[in-house]
Amino acid sequence: MKENLELLIQEVQRNSKYRHIDRQLIENVAILETAKGRSFKDSVKAVRNKLHQIANAYQPTSISYTKIIEKMISLPTDLKHPSVRTFCQETMRLHTSTRERLPELETFFLTSLGSMAPITSLLDVACGLNPLALAWMPTTPDVRVYACDVFGDQIDFLNRFFTYFGINGQAFSCDLTQTIPEIEVDVTFILKTIPCLEQIDKNIAPRLLANIKSKNLLVSFPTRSLAGQGKGMRQNYNQHFQEIVNGHNWRISQFSFSNEEAYLIQK
Ligand SMILES: C[S@@+](CC[C@H](N)C(=O)[O-])C[C@H]1O[C@@H](n2cnc3c(N)ncnc32)[C@H](O)[C@@H]1O
Repeated sequence: MKENLELLIQEVQRNSKYRHIDRQLIENVAILETAKGRSFKDSVKAVRNKLHQIANAYQPTSISYTKIIEKMISLPTDLKHPSVRTFCQETMRLHTSTRERLPELETFFLTSLGSMAPITSLLDVACGLNPLALAWMPTTPDVRVYACDVFGDQIDFLNRFFTYFGINGQAFSCDLTQTIPEIEVDVTFILKTIPCLEQIDKNIAPRLLANIKSKNLLVSFPTRSLAGQGKGMRQNYNQHFQEIVNGHNWRISQFSFSNEEAYLIQK
């Protein structure tokens, strides 16, 4: 049984699209999919499909971090320099989730986090390439930044990014359905991530929100699907969010953006 699971994981990883994904997440998805009693071949397909839906789908073209790093190391090391800002925007365009936020980058963090500025420490879970938006966030210059996601190559790049620009940052790989980081910070971002996590654990959201250590959480939901459909999504996710926080005596401020609905929770 254990050997079969190992073979299944190795087979999934044989496709380069899945090679960089956190092993714990692949194993978790593999256990869920094999429980459905499929053949080995169909299980491989099902695991890859699920990983695609929750992670790879946000990176429609494979991202060449080698090329991005080459470009980065030709830039000045001041994160606020105009050419660095352009580089960050161009790079964020490669991940669907940050690309959708670009039109409102100037206001998204200033509006949603303005009441608690300046931020001295933050944790960005299931971050994608969002740490590249740091120059647009109301933080202190020496802000401590923690960020996690499930792609090893992305994590390595984010650590290179932090080092190059002298950011007090640390990126790490983490399957949130298995491990909730225990880091105390001013604010934790859980941006557009709950619907992905719920595809493998439908009870994750209340557990995640309750167990994250920081007193402030910035949570958001997309208002349109990856295919661009937006019918009723804002209202549906708003209702879902109200169910998740139901029963907690938390202060909640809500912010509407064209592609995203955000909530600042103060525990
Ligand atoms: C919709 S994107 C959001 C990215 C980023 N938070 C943003 O708003 O720009 C969802 C992210 O969740 C990550 N992800 C999916 N499943 C995960 C898991 N089990 N643990 C941690 N991250 C996960 C994906 O790799 C992807 O970067």
